[in-house]
Amino acid sequence: MDDSDAASGESGGPYAPARDVLAGEGLGAADGGGAADPDPAVLAARLDDGDPLSGFADRYHVPDGVLYMDGNSLGPASDAALASLDRVVDEWRDRLIGGWTDADPPWFEVGERLGDALAPLVGADPSEVVVGNSITVNVHTLIGTFLDELLAGNGPDREEFEAADGTWEPDGGPDTEPAVLVNELDFPSDHYAVRAQLRQRGIDPDEKLRVVPSRDGRTIDPRDIEAALAAHDDVGIVCMPTALYRSGQLFDVARIADAAHEAGAYVGFDAAHSAGAVPHEFGDAGIDFAVWCTYKYLNAGPGSIGALFVAERHHGLTPALAGWWGHEKATQFEMNMEYTPAESAGAWQIGTPPLLAAAPLEGSVELLREAGIERLREKSLALTDFLIALVDARLPAVDVGTPREHAARGGHVALEHPDAERLSEALRDRGVVVDFRPPNVVRVCPAAPYTGFADVLEVVDEIEAILKSGAHESYATSEGGVT
Ligand SMILES: Cc1ncc(COP(=O)(O)O)c(C=O)c1O
Repeated sequence: MDDSDAASGESGGPYAPARDVLAGEGLGAADGGGAADPDPAVLAARLDDGDPLSGFADRYHVPDGVLYMDGNSLGPASDAALASLDRVVDEWRDRLIGGWTDADPPWFEVGERLGDALAPLVGADPSEVVVGNSITVNVHTLIGTFLDELLAGNGPDREEFEAADGTWEPDGGPDTEPAVLVNELDFPSDHYAVRAQLRQRGIDPDEKLRVVPSRDGRTIDPRDIEAALAAHDDVGIVCMPTALYRSGQLFDVARIADAAHEAGAYVGFDAAHSAGAVPHEFGDAGIDFAVWCTYKYLNAGPGSIGALFVAERHHGLTPALAGWWGHEKATQFEMNMEYTPAESAGAWQIGTPPLLAAAPLEGSVELLREAGIERLREKSLALTDFLIALVDARLPAVDVGTPREHAARGGHVALEHPDAERLSEALRDRGVVVDFRPPNVVRVCPAAPYTGFADVLEVVDEIEAILKSGAHESYATSEGGVT
């Protein structure tokens, strides 16, 4: 869908008041800025009253007195997720090994079953999505798989493509080593994994990990991805995030996919920061693969199982990290030494799925599907619009590092302040859970399923009070640790 339309307001809708005010003169100061409904508290109450999703908050567990703005790192437990986890724990206790075949539903196909549940959220056919492993492991196996395809001469057609350097010689010339195109603002683990996969094929990652630079330290301009493809003929895989983990910039998946394919490269995405918050159309966009986690916006719990997408046209390939759980299901237990990949994304599973790390996902996805991913996105944009407007009006020392256009904004807002780390500590001490990302970003995530507009206002009130009083200045800065 066109994200800019979701909350653009042509059709009114429950969040229209936020849009109308924000499209006018903004919120102004607390004493009124002359816009249609400038009092933020009144506006927040109106929006919360009219919010068709407001009832969902009661189905998530956020402790009293806590404003949880960190669901982009770890989503909260829900009744539904705990119920599906409890069910599997009961099955383990009561059925033991029989759970693999006799539980309802049987554990044996948990990866495929949960993949089916996730597929509509990313616009994929059920056979193209499976849960298994973690993001990092899935980057390893998918980058490895597609590097192997390129090295075997089976990559996408690049006949028509002529890059400035023209070095690619797929039929055995000296420059047959493919490069992987990533960007400077990626989550580091993806680079570690891509580098390792290049190294394992004797390819020097210092040469062949091509990194698109950021112009502003916050975002990646899609024109720079296109320029990198135009400059280098050796790019065999474009591996980008759907949304940047720090600034929250949302990428144009279809545009990048088209550019990659025109250049004869595969294209894959790390959707950790959008899956469950932003609707995707991976099938229509024609991408080759994607990876994401389920512990952020999918609310399946700490360390919950990862997920991946592989386009149907690639089913049947042998994964770089093959394992028995990716074997053709019908013959998996024949224990053949020869590996026959499942004819689905299921082939990219590796070993036995961690049932207890997968079980909560069943309930948590059901809840999101009940709310509706399009409606969640519409509310999320209204929440972040409201947050950005409040920051503009009330926090002069804070910059918004997240793009303002809806089409380029994910589910969280990056607030930039020179004392961001100490500010985030002071907020946590006041029950506002956010996180800090170096060097200067406080990430605030008003996740749509369980956050109200009044919550957003309270967060900004707290930030304003801390900055005005200087309360954050008494906090020490740390050296690492989980934030
Ligand atoms: C964008 C992104 N990619 C990759 C990872 C690593 O994920 P995992 O630890 O599940 O492998 C994370 C973790 O937060 C992430 O945010």
